[in-house]
Amino acid sequence: MLTEKTVVLAVSGSIAAYKAANIARMCKKLNADVQVLMTKNAENFINPITFESLTGNKCLIDTFDRNFQYSVEHVALAKKASVVLLAPASANVIGKIANGIADDMLTTTIMACTCKKIISPAMNHNMFHNPIVQDNIKKLASYGYEIVTPDRGMLANGDIGDGRMPDEQTLVNYILKECAFEKDLSGKKVLITAGATREPLDPVRFISNHSTGKMGVALAENAMLRGADVTLVAAHTDVPLPPFVTIVKAETAAEMYTAVTDRFDDCDIVVMAAAVADYRPKNAAENKIKKSGASPEIEFERTQDILAELGRRKTHQFLCGFSMETENLVENSAKKLEKKNLDMICANNLKIKGAGFGTDTNVITVITKDGMQELELMSKQKAAENIFTSIIKRL
Ligand code: CTP
Repeated sequence: MLTEKTVVLAVSGSIAAYKAANIARMCKKLNADVQVLMTKNAENFINPITFESLTGNKCLIDTFDRNFQYSVEHVALAKKASVVLLAPASANVIGKIANGIADDMLTTTIMACTCKKIISPAMNHNMFHNPIVQDNIKKLASYGYEIVTPDRGMLANGDIGDGRMPDEQTLVNYILKECAFEKDLSGKKVLITAGATREPLDPVRFISNHSTGKMGVALAENAMLRGADVTLVAAHTDVPLPPFVTIVKAETAAEMYTAVTDRFDDCDIVVMAAAVADYRPKNAAENKIKKSGASPEIEFERTQDILAELGRRKTHQFLCGFSMETENLVENSAKKLEKKNLDMICANNLKIKGAGFGTDTNVITVITKDGMQELELMSKQKAAENIFTSIIKRL
């Protein structure tokens, strides 16, 4: 996801510097060119050789050290940087950058970079809340630096407080949000549904389906990485929900109906990837627990078809549905496209190996009024990317 991107990882003197090694490794695994800069103080916490072994690049420390042509080096690096992550950012380095002091390799390079700079403060609770540090952080934010709020938890000295550097994945997520994709959905409001609705049968049991939410979650993540303002209406899911996305929980079809219709007017793109129950037990709230052995007589009623309702209300929105079929995939899906007044339907055949519920891959046919595109077997992330590329072409 970071192929041809240069991630500048700037590491200052804080015990959290050990986490930076993992960040370097994770970015490298995502194919980034990772360039690590360290302050002199950071060397007290982690050895530059660690970063050099992980990234395959020289770790740069200060302007007078180790026979490098640093004055040229820092400008060249600043020019090719796709993103800078300063993690951990000590109070000292935050203070220097906020006040225009550039007296080593790290601060001079950051100052010469025009790309997005993400700063992850890591320090003791009282230092973090010191008004001078807070003022410096606000000043950096006002200049467009992105500040990662530190976690609350046990700090290095055993105290509980604010100032903990978030885990490595969280910081890599900030990098991905910044540069994994072109921002071709910027300014768009996107609403996605994901997962399996659950319809109560009695106070203990429910009726549901095998959807894990992987496809809907991959769609929400892709739209977020492309710069959209994303809301994910999540029924029951078995996968972690994506960062930087507004999550709205909806357990039943009725809750999902309300969550989606309430937000529909404001949206530009809506993708219904949730597997919504078509029927629910009647009068579930009044039902008592069915004793085992007894044969329950359950009456069912239809749930509202959310997608069809959206098709009726549609004005400017691009509306995309999913269709699960076991036979006549294209015909049945094309009928749904027409009947529900959709702009696109993503059909998958549950009988094909590697497609449908629970798998990490999918085989999708994207159907629109003007034709269809068969996608080969691919990861749900890649399928999500293809679906949004198709949607963007039609906006
Ligand atoms: N859907 C919905 N509300 C429902 C049922 C389904 O919004 N009560 C949406 C799903 O999220 C999916 C699309 O409708 O995007 C198609 O779902 P599917 O179950 O394949 O089709 P149905 O219209 O329910 O028809 P059938 O079950 O007969 O195939």
